[in-house]
Amino acid sequence: MNHVTLHKSYVTTILQSIHNLIIPKFKNQPMNLHELNSTAKKLVANHKGILAMDESLPTCNKRFAKLGIPQTEEFRRAYRELIVTTAGLGESISGAILFDETIRQKTKDGTPMIQVITDAGIIPGIKVDTGARDLAGRPGEKISEGLDELRDRLIEYYQMGARFAKWRAVINISDSIPTRGAIEANAFTLARYAALCQEAGLVPIVEPEVLMDGNHTMKRCFEVTEEVLHTVFNQLYTQGVILEGMILKPNMVLPGLTCPKQESADDIADATVKCFLRAVPAAVPGITFLSGGQTAELASERLNAMNVRFKSQLPWELSFSYGRALQQPALEIWRGKEAKVLKAQQALYHRAKCNFAARKGIYTAGMEKA
Ligand code: 13P
Repeated sequence: MNHVTLHKSYVTTILQSIHNLIIPKFKNQPMNLHELNSTAKKLVANHKGILAMDESLPTCNKRFAKLGIPQTEEFRRAYRELIVTTAGLGESISGAILFDETIRQKTKDGTPMIQVITDAGIIPGIKVDTGARDLAGRPGEKISEGLDELRDRLIEYYQMGARFAKWRAVINISDSIPTRGAIEANAFTLARYAALCQEAGLVPIVEPEVLMDGNHTMKRCFEVTEEVLHTVFNQLYTQGVILEGMILKPNMVLPGLTCPKQESADDIADATVKCFLRAVPAAVPGITFLSGGQTAELASERLNAMNVRFKSQLPWELSFSYGRALQQPALEIWRGKEAKVLKAQQALYHRAKCNFAARKGIYTAGMEKA
């Protein structure tokens, strides 16, 4: 053996030992868990977060209608082009969740949207639930649908370039709900979806959203969120979902929107982190909160409070996967007007930067005046 060969085999042995140390639990697994784990980690790396731009047709049209924007495919395309062509978006955004219509669309100059996203260094994702419907026999409760033919759809999305997916389940709070029936049905469905995603090489974003609507207290939101998360992780375990290859997208622990007592950002941060430490296994790489109807500023302030108070002590990254809290200011500026595109893009860029700062724990109200 000459010197070079000896050196090469030495390096190979060292690399192999490091690999074996990091990946032993993924050995003998049929799917590419190394890739799943690496994508999940990238989605929460470097203080960046996820941009949810996956509003379904009815939701997108509803938001357009409120601002007098025509509810046509062309206006939805133009709006999504505005978002993905925002200069510098990749500085704070790691992944973007698209809707089926958008992943098939092109920008005005003919470039596929998914390519614009990838070129900006952003990982493309796709919403795959087909919406929440009434749950039979459970008045006021919902079940998200979309498992039929999901395996085939996931294969197609992977081939198109998507590397992660999202499924949103909604849990309502009132005096008499949620019931165990609704919690278990949604947890089971989320776990079936997540297992199918991992089989197809897509990182599942598991989103059990306890809604803010109502006058319930923060304590009640805590109890419901804790129960929902325990049930979801039980089901993920039962269905063989690998926790290292997924992301959790939950609600923060908040008082209901019309609850007379609205806690401070610090109290919300304490309650949220306490709840998640009890219910979310340390193997999950990241928790990316939804904004759920909070104002853009509050969503940044509360995420910031969590990172200021707990960042160095937590097993997972605490990040964002906001829809409205990133997009709403931009949408209100744009209102379908070509002349407003640049201003709207600046507003989106600003919100992304604010939440990037919140992940570091250096967001301040002063950033909003700049
Ligand atoms: P919001 O941040 O507007 O709640 O949207 C996030 C999302 O993706 C809901 O599914």
